[in-house]
Amino acid sequence: AFHKHPNHYDFSFDGPVGNWDVGQLQRGLKVYDEVCSACHSLKFVAFRDLAELGLTPGQIKAFAAKHQVPGVDKNTGEATTVPGLPTDYFPSPYPNEIAARAANNNAVPPDLSLMTKARHDGTNYVVSLLTGYQKQPAELLKRFPEAKTPPGLHYNPYFANLNIAMPPPLHTDGQVTFDDGAPSDIKSMAEDVAAFLTWTAEPKLVKRRQTGWPVVIFLIFATGLAYMSKQQVWAAVK
Ligand code: HEM
Repeated sequence: AFHKHPNHYDFSFDGPVGNWDVGQLQRGLKVYDEVCSACHSLKFVAFRDLAELGLTPGQIKAFAAKHQVPGVDKNTGEATTVPGLPTDYFPSPYPNEIAARAANNNAVPPDLSLMTKARHDGTNYVVSLLTGYQKQPAELLKRFPEAKTPPGLHYNPYFANLNIAMPPPLHTDGQVTFDDGAPSDIKSMAEDVAAFLTWTAEPKLVKRRQTGWPVVIFLIFATGLAYMSKQQVWAAVK
């Protein structure tokens, strides 16, 4: 009864004729890069994929080089991290699961590439989760005193078990500064990163929907043709 379904937020890519708001996807990338990437990987997204968000090859090269990815020390042959290339994928900030758990109260920050697909109503879920941190309702504590949020966890009614190991990542208006001057209150930043994560999970979403229309129009046209040829073929039969 205390768990909440995601709220609804409006996105440019909603509905049959929706489209990406590329400016928003770029802002979401910035939120991911400056905030979420401290804990989460995007292992199915390569730096070169950012070309679809309008980054030039030069920008992509520079962006990749700013990120350390797993590699090999040229002199010793030991595993280490090296500056990324456009062909590398957004790395995990942790070398392994043990390091990830050690830094996060024994929880593992999941890879975010497919998160908006993995959760029901994923895009709205991400916004709701990020903006949903709050005090435990008195009613809950009265009915279930033993359900008090344990130390190191954070009450969030949108999270399946109500207590999440992730501290509120977006906590201050203006935490991320956007180059296009768009608002950067907590809700706007949450929406932007949710839009970005919708793109990482299904970069062909808009393309897929747009392909449907020509297909439907063609099928209507083809039905017309079939009907006319049927009339023609049977014209002589009285
Ligand atoms: C879990 C998003 C920043 C640590 C999650 C989940 C999402 C998410 C969607 C999964 C919740 C679920 O399983 O349903 C984000 C976004 C961030 C961000 C969009 C940036 C705006 C961070 C940061 C940290 C962090 C900075 C570390 C300080 C974690 C951990 C979990 C988690 C430990 C696992 C929680 C658990 O299983 O209890 N995050 N996150 N996240 N995140 Fe983040």
